[in-house]
Amino acid sequence: MTTQKLASSVQGLQSSAIRELLKHSKMPGVISLGGGIPNPELFDHEGLKMAADAVLSTHFGEAFQYGLSEGYPALREAIQQLSADRGIQCAADDVVITSGSQQSLDILARALINPGDTVIVERPTYLAALQVFSLAQANIESVGTDGEGMIVDELEARVANKPVKAVYIVPTFGNPGGVTLSEARRKKLVELSKRYDFVIIEDDPYSEINYTDEVFRPLMAHAKAIGNQDNIVYTSTFSKILSPGTRVGWVIVPEWLKRAVVNLKQTTDLHTSTLSQLMTYEYLKTGRLPGQIAMIRDAYRHKYQLFASELEAELGDVLSFHKPKGGMFLWAKMNNGLNTTRWLEKTLSNGVVYVPGEFFYCNDPDYATLRMSFVTATDDQLKEAVKRLKASL
Ligand SMILES: Cc1ncc(COP(=O)(O)O)c(C=O)c1O
Repeated sequence: MTTQKLASSVQGLQSSAIRELLKHSKMPGVISLGGGIPNPELFDHEGLKMAADAVLSTHFGEAFQYGLSEGYPALREAIQQLSADRGIQCAADDVVITSGSQQSLDILARALINPGDTVIVERPTYLAALQVFSLAQANIESVGTDGEGMIVDELEARVANKPVKAVYIVPTFGNPGGVTLSEARRKKLVELSKRYDFVIIEDDPYSEINYTDEVFRPLMAHAKAIGNQDNIVYTSTFSKILSPGTRVGWVIVPEWLKRAVVNLKQTTDLHTSTLSQLMTYEYLKTGRLPGQIAMIRDAYRHKYQLFASELEAELGDVLSFHKPKGGMFLWAKMNNGLNTTRWLEKTLSNGVVYVPGEFFYCNDPDYATLRMSFVTATDDQLKEAVKRLKASL
């Protein structure tokens, strides 16, 4: 009864299926392929300790004080440099520090979306982005993906027809699909956003976790050449390359959006934890991040290769998947049409969990799909997980 007092926008808001699953994954003996969480054994204990010591000894007063809503200036400058290394030319002033990319998405949705505005997402897409856009009461539609990422021709047919406010995309090593948008499609997407005047929300948490030597330039890096600097917003995060618990991410915004984003940041939480920002800044100063990223990339690539070859050997006839070029996820489809939501009960009783694919669709889910994360399990657990999946068939 009392739930009627809830705002209509939150009445339909569900707890993330993945967070619910994580509860099961903590049960003794269960191997989790569920959560999209980084491997904590790879956290840079020594480097983070050095950063914490530096904060306490040189920034004590500042670290425990309120800060600017835009973020700590020296960290914004360091992020400008990091962005330049990714091919994005921006000013430090274009960078707003957020409490993770999740907050960037929430702020952008509130800055851009009126109830009923159309937001296009990939099919499948990041579950918590769906939550953000549904909270903003957007009309969410999806466009298919294949081995080259979002099918941009399908998007073109849609945007040419009716106005679209924004396209949300994880172009590099996506979550959950693991797919990467090809260079030709990147250019075309940026061109379409100029021609049909929609905003691209580019979400890029995983691009540094690249298993290959190929370079995937962000959409925002194409903006200048295509003359479309006003319609692309880029968010990224330290969550997957340094620490998710510090909650430090950022958003790079065009001039017209800056004031709104900073004001929304202010009304949300005034600013991201000064302590976390300073620790991140001091960590970057140690120069250890590139080595840390290389170590994470090698470890995840190894786990991916092991897991993929076990899956192919043991379950190759019932399950197919794209080979991701990076990131943390393997997205698969059961060739026998098995409903993976129902199958989970069985696999759980055999001691292995994954995330059923249905949660990653805004409508019309493919129930035969599933997402498996291979980065936190040990090598032996990965092999055992595949055996348990097979035994659950
Ligand atoms: C695609 C995508 N966007 C955003 C996030 C949120 O990241 P953060 O920890 O920076 O809030 C995640 C986390 O898993 C993600 O997969």
